[in-house]
Amino acid sequence: MDAFIIEGGNPLQGEVTISGAKNAVLGIIPAAVLCACSSKIENVPDIKDVNKMIVILEKLGAEIYREKDTLIINTEKPISYDVSDYEEETGQMRASYYLLGALLGRYRKAIVPLPGGCNIGDRPIDQHIKGFQALGATVVIEHGQVKMEAPELKGAHIFLDVVSVGATINIMLAAVRADGKTIIENAAKEPHIVDVANFLNLMGANIKGAGTDVIKIVGVEEMHGCEYSVIPDQITTGTYMMAAAATEGDILIKNVIPKHMEAITAKLSEMGVIVLEEDDGIRVIGKHPLKAVNVKTMPYPGFPTDLQQPMAVLMTIAQGTSTITESIFESRFKYVDELRRMGANISINSRTASITGVKALSATKIRTTDLRAGAAMVIAGLIADGETKITEIVHIDRGYENLQENLRNLGADIRRISEKDPACL
Ligand code: EPZ
Repeated sequence: MDAFIIEGGNPLQGEVTISGAKNAVLGIIPAAVLCACSSKIENVPDIKDVNKMIVILEKLGAEIYREKDTLIINTEKPISYDVSDYEEETGQMRASYYLLGALLGRYRKAIVPLPGGCNIGDRPIDQHIKGFQALGATVVIEHGQVKMEAPELKGAHIFLDVVSVGATINIMLAAVRADGKTIIENAAKEPHIVDVANFLNLMGANIKGAGTDVIKIVGVEEMHGCEYSVIPDQITTGTYMMAAAATEGDILIKNVIPKHMEAITAKLSEMGVIVLEEDDGIRVIGKHPLKAVNVKTMPYPGFPTDLQQPMAVLMTIAQGTSTITESIFESRFKYVDELRRMGANISINSRTASITGVKALSATKIRTTDLRAGAAMVIAGLIADGETKITEIVHIDRGYENLQENLRNLGADIRRISEKDPACL
């Protein structure tokens, strides 16, 4: 049970380089099983969810070689479409649902346990199932497993009832090898959707319109291996931007795509933060006092829900009252009690938090409730008066590569301690 100890008060200074996008690579790795081939994937982040996905694919029979941030995935030998024995691994992350689309695409059948992932609200997969059924699959959910079979996988016209990242990618994974044309309407447009589609097209798929709300896919019989480099992580970039803003720091964030950061840059600028696009990255200069703002999370290109929690921490020390409305997940404010323990002034009304700025947060012991809440707790520790202890940081390790080393290199006083599991004390 690792924990972080942070002595607050140091403005972040210097440079940090962003690693590959978690929510892109978690779609790209399963996509590599869509043919008997070998693919090379670069800029793969060293994070727990990726390592788990690799373990699952190896247990299914794939041969995976890793060197630094490069993976070679070889699925020339047949791999199993039955993932039912690996519930422990699949239950610890959401993206295990991508094995459904990929295995259905390759084998016309798949048995995969229902996914796990962050406890941020009701997270059904009805839109995924709807898409697979439209492509001709029979789908049975029993004993915690999704069992699918499609003697014939046929292209279809699919209208998503909600804008879903997972359903958009999963249907793409199955449809690239279906007979005929598939149209996904009301599709999600996140950068990671485009990244997965680009990877699939390099494998020989025929996808058009990824990044728009209408994606057209013409199924192909054959696919082949490819070489691909994953895009930088939009959410990790945003997390460092907010850490710099909160600590009144001045950092250069390298290996970023400024276009992906527009919604975040706009809100930070409204708060008075200076965000400069430079040749080799984005420079963020925190200027206090921060001004209060109103934010509503939306699907891309709107303000990402995965930065809602870090943004709330900035608002706790802004001048005036800010509001943050969570439109994607219905219970993504679990972290609020932890911030209140640090003296934050927050009231919640349904899906909106009203945050009135205080002079400073005070350090104490706080816990991590999920991945992005964990990042928010770290930022709170960086600005709090005194020594903060953050427990259950295993959540953070799921999605951030080398967080404490990177922050230390930026001048933060942060260290990781390993403790005996409280349950055992
Ligand atoms: C992906 O989750 C990301 N996870 C999440 O990031 C991110 O918060 C979310 O997209 C939104 O951007 C991965 O990519 C692995 P959705 P996903 O399907 O696919 C409802 C992180 O911190 N919905 O876009 O689960 C759903 O309940 C994680 O990295 C249905 O109703 O999100 C939600 O309200 C946390 N039926 C909304 O749609 C469905 O079949 C958006 O969910 C699917 C979704």
